[in-house]
Amino acid sequence: MAKEKTLYTCTECGATSPRWLGKCPGCGAWNTLIEALAEPAAAGRNRLSAAVPGQYAGLAQAQPVVPLAAIEAADVARTATGMDELDRVLGGGVVEGGVVLIGGDPGIGKSTLLLQALDALQRLGLPTLYVTGEESGAQVALRSRRLGIEGSQVQVLAEIGLEKILATVDAVQPAIVVIDSIQTVYSDQLTSAPGSVAQVRECAAHLTRLAKATGIAVVLVGHVTKEGALAGPRVLEHMVDTVLYFEGDTHSSFRLVRAIKNRFGAVNEIGVFAMTERGLRGVANPSAIFLSQHSEPVPGSCVLVTLEGSRPLLVEIQALVDGGGISPRRLSVGLERDRLAMLLAVLHRHAGVACADQDVFVNAVGGVRISEPAADLAVMLAITSSLRARALPKGFIAFGEVGLAGEVRPAPRGQERLKEAAKLGFTVAVVPKANAPRKPIAGLAIHAVERVEEAMDVVRGLD
Ligand code: TYD
Ligand code: MG
Repeated sequence: MAKEKTLYTCTECGATSPRWLGKCPGCGAWNTLIEALAEPAAAGRNRLSAAVPGQYAGLAQAQPVVPLAAIEAADVARTATGMDELDRVLGGGVVEGGVVLIGGDPGIGKSTLLLQALDALQRLGLPTLYVTGEESGAQVALRSRRLGIEGSQVQVLAEIGLEKILATVDAVQPAIVVIDSIQTVYSDQLTSAPGSVAQVRECAAHLTRLAKATGIAVVLVGHVTKEGALAGPRVLEHMVDTVLYFEGDTHSSFRLVRAIKNRFGAVNEIGVFAMTERGLRGVANPSAIFLSQHSEPVPGSCVLVTLEGSRPLLVEIQALVDGGGISPRRLSVGLERDRLAMLLAVLHRHAGVACADQDVFVNAVGGVRISEPAADLAVMLAITSSLRARALPKGFIAFGEVGLAGEVRPAPRGQERLKEAAKLGFTVAVVPKANAPRKPIAGLAIHAVERVEEAMDVVRGLD
């Protein structure tokens, strides 16, 4: 294939340069120029000025427009894989022509999940193609044996050249193709190395175009950097229809798959799996899996009822407050660090709890990431419990957002959270006043609070 002309484009301001420059000539930002294929200039293109009517007529023919009301809303055609937890995050199944990006740490189970999904679809009679750039066909076969699907009719292609992959997809015409991973694929149209931003972007764009033009569903596997973002440009997330992230601790067997963007379903929906000897199995009732199994309550631990997607989950929040030094550390795993700093300030100002000279560590058990502010109250109670070296009572749960003024704000769908906690045998709850149910919930003593100070008083009263 003849090499097309390449251009370097600034990811910040869009300025272009025929050669790579460290500093963008447009906006002066550093290291923002990436390689891109130059668009062929349209013949006779001239500069357009805004105010001249009819000036575009020479460029292209006007296209007919239709009122929105006249367009029939076609439901997207989806196929459920039959793996319920996966279908849940996808919004019901694989969508025709849909592009899914799935990210996660190495070894967390991306390849396993997708091979299982392809096998399930293949059993439904759909032609499927698995393109592997990281492993040989033999390694994929080995995994399939482990999964007990070695007799599967999933088609496998071990290839990293984009043009060859596109040609093969065209010839095979699968209903769904998995590219494992997008970082290994490269196009010979670009001189950049495989895995570079330019390559990843260009290859993903080609595959997205293919999906839209043919109705083939495309799944791209993406690596995650140490900082937890998808390696490659953010633009990848904008390009695709659905972005799924694997979460979870590789040391525990549970894996969460979270939809952080979904044009065909709800965001923040999660699917919960357990990694077993024979691949990933869906966990239908995940509410209790993120509780560590203490027989007796320990200081620094508070159970939070969080609402992930459509299901409540109980997650143990652990805190350790310990003698620090001149520059005490604040560390959080699974929770936002900035939010932790804010909560410590609120604790100090409104509840008189000072941790300024102490190290504070906070952890959400099980490798789950919690982004909802309703975790605030549980985080604060875990911190004060550690500081006082007093355990919260047995069967204790809390949730609620805390504001800078020390007010405790309601969490969405409080009733559901409380009911789930009661179902799992929890007996005491501290919740925002607005979340207190009108009718009592059997077995659950509910303390409704409006302010942080009140919450602290309630807890002291329970000692
Ligand atoms: P893998 O799907 O290769 O991860 P990724 O593609 O995200 O890098 O998962 C590999 C891990 O899962 C590996 O540590 C072995 C484990 N595993 C099981 O525990 N059971 C299984 O049935 C399979 C196939 C893998
Ligand atoms: Mg893999």
